[in-house]
Amino acid sequence: MNYHIAVIKGDGIGPEIVTEAMKVLEEIGKKYGHTFEFEEVLMGGIAIDQTGCPLPEETIKACKKADSILFGAIGGPKWDKGPKEMRPETGLLALRKEMGFYANIRPAKLYPALADACPLKEEVSGGAFDFVIVRELTGGIYFGEKGRRGDCAYDTEQYSAEEIKRIGRIAFKMAQKRGKKLLSIDKANVMESSRFWREIMHDMKEEYPDVAYADMLVDNAAMQLVRDPKQFDVIVTSNIFGDILSDEAGMITGSIGMLPSSSMGDGKQGLYEPIHGSAPDIAGQGLANPIATILSAAMMLRYSFDLAEEALLIEKAVDQVLKAGYRTKDIYREGSEDILVSTVEMGKKIRECLQ
Ligand code: IPM
Ligand code: MN
Repeated sequence: MNYHIAVIKGDGIGPEIVTEAMKVLEEIGKKYGHTFEFEEVLMGGIAIDQTGCPLPEETIKACKKADSILFGAIGGPKWDKGPKEMRPETGLLALRKEMGFYANIRPAKLYPALADACPLKEEVSGGAFDFVIVRELTGGIYFGEKGRRGDCAYDTEQYSAEEIKRIGRIAFKMAQKRGKKLLSIDKANVMESSRFWREIMHDMKEEYPDVAYADMLVDNAAMQLVRDPKQFDVIVTSNIFGDILSDEAGMITGSIGMLPSSSMGDGKQGLYEPIHGSAPDIAGQGLANPIATILSAAMMLRYSFDLAEEALLIEKAVDQVLKAGYRTKDIYREGSEDILVSTVEMGKKIRECLQ
């Protein structure tokens, strides 16, 4: 099969990590007889510099006609001071909206080979946990009415029933395929939009009797994540809560450089990207960990192209390379037997394991 992939390398370490993921896909293509055609397009700071806009029309067009999108990271201090329309982040928010990618899937998994990178004590982490955050991505306060009035500024949290239902369906279905547990996180003791969210989730749970459903308040959830992360299977939550909690979840794995994510709508197309950011401080030095992006490419194979076997092979290769002790700087342990490798070397090791 022939797959057309729009590639957005972005800013900071983006180009380095995406390049490694593309090489892994090429290797998979050779092995299984697929052709991956890459079309590189601009978004973020680099797009601002080259075209004057964080999300050029051309990029939207290329993404719409692609089978899927591979993305690195955007942003950096260089573009921090501009007006909102000229911020790299605005490009990403607009792309998600344009593409209708309302569901953001963010796994948080403690890799056994990296268990001692976890900042939690072992009796707390349990030595292994594995859950997924399903974050609503195109609604809520990030997209609600916002503005300034006199000496006030405001943003609005607002959800329609349909917006809640469609993210709910994705989360319930994901729970059915995993541990059959779904936790919906909200702030229903205070916020009307959360009470509405909870009502709709409760109506929906009748349709998924095989899933054990529960609610949790977001402040409690922030605490539970560091108190007992093993309790979670699938979490569903709003845009802002998901943004915050998924960073916390990434951190407790001790290896944010390892976590992939996908954003999807109703179709097969998706936007696949590492959870971490553009890390401008280490850009261009071969220090970045390409694993999160490589695993994002694996997620693309599984969810957008139904190539589960190929995806699993990549995931196994990553496991193997970690077990063999190869580590980029972010996961390297001083004084251990770890073998320190660069971004490019890590990519190469993973490709070698595919053969
Ligand atoms: C993320 C990022 C984005 C978000 C920013 C860059 C707009 O933090 O993907 O979590 O908040 O959604
Ligand atoms: Mn975020």
